[in-house]
Amino acid sequence: MAEELVPVLSRSEIADTVKSLAQRISKDYSGKDLCVIGVLNGVFVFLADLVRELTVSVRVDFIRLASYDSGNVSSGNIRATKEIELDIKDRDVLVIEDIVDSGLTVDFLLRYLEQFQPKSVKVCAFIDKTERREVEVPVDYVGHVVEEGFLVGYGLDYDQRYRELPEIYHLKP
Ligand code: IMP
Ligand code: MG
Repeated sequence: MAEELVPVLSRSEIADTVKSLAQRISKDYSGKDLCVIGVLNGVFVFLADLVRELTVSVRVDFIRLASYDSGNVSSGNIRATKEIELDIKDRDVLVIEDIVDSGLTVDFLLRYLEQFQPKSVKVCAFIDKTERREVEVPVDYVGHVVEEGFLVGYGLDYDQRYRELPEIYHLKP
């Protein structure tokens, strides 16, 4: 089966988006004690770019999640396979996601983080993919809205491939 990669976002479009997100975040968190928590694995590229454009200092941590489901249908049976290690009590937390799809991951994360009593929790996603949303979740900082399709590149994978591509593509089977 030949997979086709259709360009969606170029390197320069991605860089512009990262800069404008970083400006908004830097302004909103100026003078605050910000912890960014990236959701592995997909976020590693975006997070590395984003934090280097911030003009506020941050603490960085990661969480890794797994679903109990068999197959590729997400049901929300999610658990952390790598917990956060930072102390976020009374701190401002920004969850960083590569892409929000059904919303189940962000929904889980917001409930998971509550137990640590952070001062505030907001969500930043490079891509907000709206077509398959199952739960309404707040996404406070959105890079790009994409309605549909399966995206790869810039950290996003298909079966662990394509994460290294510097641009974002639609993967057409
Ligand atoms: P959600 O729980 O359905 O919102 O799923 C979010 C996760 O599914 C993301 O963090 C990605 O790992 C994965 N995902 C959803 N859509 C795509 C896509 O188009 N390309 C690559 N990964 C995706
Ligand atoms: Mg992810």
